[in-house]
Amino acid sequence: MKLGKNWVFAGLVAGSALVLTACSDSEAQSSSTSAEASAPVALDVYKSPTCGCCESWIEHADKHGFESAIHHPQDLNGVKDDLGIAPRFRSCHTAVTQDGYAFEGHVPAKLVQRFLDNPPEGALGLAVPGMPAGSPGMEMGDRFDPYPVVLLYKDGRFELYEEIDKQEMQY
Ligand code: CU
Ligand code: CU
Repeated sequence: MKLGKNWVFAGLVAGSALVLTACSDSEAQSSSTSAEASAPVALDVYKSPTCGCCESWIEHADKHGFESAIHHPQDLNGVKDDLGIAPRFRSCHTAVTQDGYAFEGHVPAKLVQRFLDNPPEGALGLAVPGMPAGSPGMEMGDRFDPYPVVLLYKDGRFELYEEIDKQEMQY
């Protein structure tokens, strides 16, 4: 079956409900990762204390040029409300840079880096809504569901930033 390139994104635009599959609560290994050549970019990551896939995403990010400080706010949705991340774009965790850019969910670290290298005018950040199987931190063997990375603007506009069709595109 050949799917149109932007089919997942089209679903978002249409406002279809995204199913948040439960993320595993399995204990993620907390290993200290070596920083890459340049100084790591600091991230404040907001998540629930029991989220295992969040820990896996943090490991992925910290392996690829970031340094995460983990926060467990009482009201995680309140954090997303304050940042201006609309409910349909939400996922399990929210990472925020010191400049206030927000990265919602399992966004590949290299796209976070690409965004930060050249932030679009008026942009709020990037989001991977829901929790696509096979995205960074959601690895499930060979399983991979293509997903959109959405560019969010502070005024509520949004557009497709990148369509991730293949697992290899993420690293
Ligand atoms: Cu997750
Ligand atoms: Cu998460």
